[in-house]
Amino acid sequence: MCNDDIKKWLDRMGEIFLIDVGIKHKQTVLDLGCGVGNYSIPTAGIVGRSGKVYAIDKNREHLDELMHRTEERGLENIEIVEVSEGSGLPLQDESVDVVLLYDVIHLVDNRKKLLADIYRVLKPNAIVSVYPKHHQEHMNMELDDVKDEIESACFRFERMIYKILIHDNCLEQGYVLNFVKE
Ligand SMILES: C[S@@+](CC[C@H](N)C(=O)[O-])C[C@H]1O[C@@H](n2cnc3c(N)ncnc32)[C@H](O)[C@@H]1O
Repeated sequence: MCNDDIKKWLDRMGEIFLIDVGIKHKQTVLDLGCGVGNYSIPTAGIVGRSGKVYAIDKNREHLDELMHRTEERGLENIEIVEVSEGSGLPLQDESVDVVLLYDVIHLVDNRKKLLADIYRVLKPNAIVSVYPKHHQEHMNMELDDVKDEIESACFRFERMIYKILIHDNCLEQGYVLNFVKE
């Protein structure tokens, strides 16, 4: 099921969605918990050759699949980086324009530490965009609680986006929360 969805997403829908989120040509974007790259690949199309996507994950198999997909498409602006849980982000301070944190926070052991690390790597006034997805069943938190937690890590809530996005290779409506580094 959803076979056509991923094609539609990678053909054009993904780029339209991510432009709406705030990603721009030439930017440096970190897709944290990138999985097989359903957000990294359209992001690479937006930022272009003068931009860069860091696709970071702790799962080798997902990253191998992403590597295969980038080679198939000839994408040279995605740098794939494997990390281990809690190891910290291997990126320089204030080097990133946008962090995507999509469908991953419910899997992170120490969210406070992760948010502090995201704060460190983001440039001033840069964006962290969060798709919480499983906050109720896995974190026992409402959307407002997620928002409060991220704000308490020194990010200012900017806006909520309710749009069709990709989740587990299927298109569905979802809430994304955008924050700005204060
Ligand atoms: C449900 S998938 C979402 C993938 C992608 N963001 C998307 O929305 O299509 C969650 C991914 O986050 C990764 N992950 C979970 N905890 C992580 C951590 N602490 N650091 C890096 N990656 C992590 C998992 O390995 C998995 O690939």
